[in-house]
Amino acid sequence: MIGLGLNDQKDITLKGLEAVKKSKKVFLESYTSRLNCSVQELEKLYEQKIILADRELVESKADKILDSALKEDVSFLVIGDVFSATTHTDLYIRALEKGIKLEVINNASILNAIGIVGLELYKFGKTTSIVFPLDNWKPETHYNVLKENQAMDLHTLALLDIKVKEPSPEDIKKGNNNPLPERYMTVNEGIRSLLDIEEKRREGIFTLDTFCIGCARIGSKDFKIIAGTAKELLEKDFGEPLHCLIIPSKNLHDIEREMIEKWK
Ligand SMILES: C[S@@+](CC[C@H](N)C(=O)[O-])C[C@H]1O[C@@H](n2cnc3c(N)ncnc32)[C@H](O)[C@@H]1O
Repeated sequence: MIGLGLNDQKDITLKGLEAVKKSKKVFLESYTSRLNCSVQELEKLYEQKIILADRELVESKADKILDSALKEDVSFLVIGDVFSATTHTDLYIRALEKGIKLEVINNASILNAIGIVGLELYKFGKTTSIVFPLDNWKPETHYNVLKENQAMDLHTLALLDIKVKEPSPEDIKKGNNNPLPERYMTVNEGIRSLLDIEEKRREGIFTLDTFCIGCARIGSKDFKIIAGTAKELLEKDFGEPLHCLIIPSKNLHDIEREMIEKWK
């Protein structure tokens, strides 16, 4: 199980690259994050054919991956880190139960790379996810988590949803069963979601004046970080995915404050 890091094909560690190169099969978990490079670029550097592993393969048909790992060296690649933000603990446990010899090769994750904004990582509360609402399902978990974190004077990291497009019957006929990421939530959409809930609940947890930090493409050369009120950030274009949103706690350390000034 190998973390690929956050940006492109070159973020794999040397240990990870060696393991991939000597594998007989290479799976890439393809539905919970995104690299700023193509699968072809990964294949070129790794000199391997990459099999895209969608949610169904990883979660319901994991035996397909595990059974090959019983016979030969298999790499399971995860964007970011293997057990951060998206955990693949279930796969790990099932592999152990089957008697597969496992090695985990870690890498950077969004959970630690956001340290660049200057907020102390130790002072983050629960991480939350903001999901695209459906007509009959409008979760408010992220609002509740923010409320809990605020009560303990902790920072909040909100990860933003990735909407996956299911393959059409024609795609399936052509043998392409892989759902593909179709839409990535922007910082602006994340802010709007919190404002919509605020409008309904009126608890003063997240308003147009709430100070937040929008982040995009952390770990790449063209990363973008902008700090400002929700109202100000709503007008900013953060560009290409991936994005995430941070709501700092009220009481900041002097160094935190100084660093955040740089992103205003
Ligand atoms: C479910 S998490 C998967 C995290 C990954 N396993 C890791 O360790 O970083 C994916 C979400 O994290 C956020 N994210 C991941 N990488 C990011 C990046 N480089 N810049 C900004 N946000 C990122 C986005 O909100 C994205 O939808």
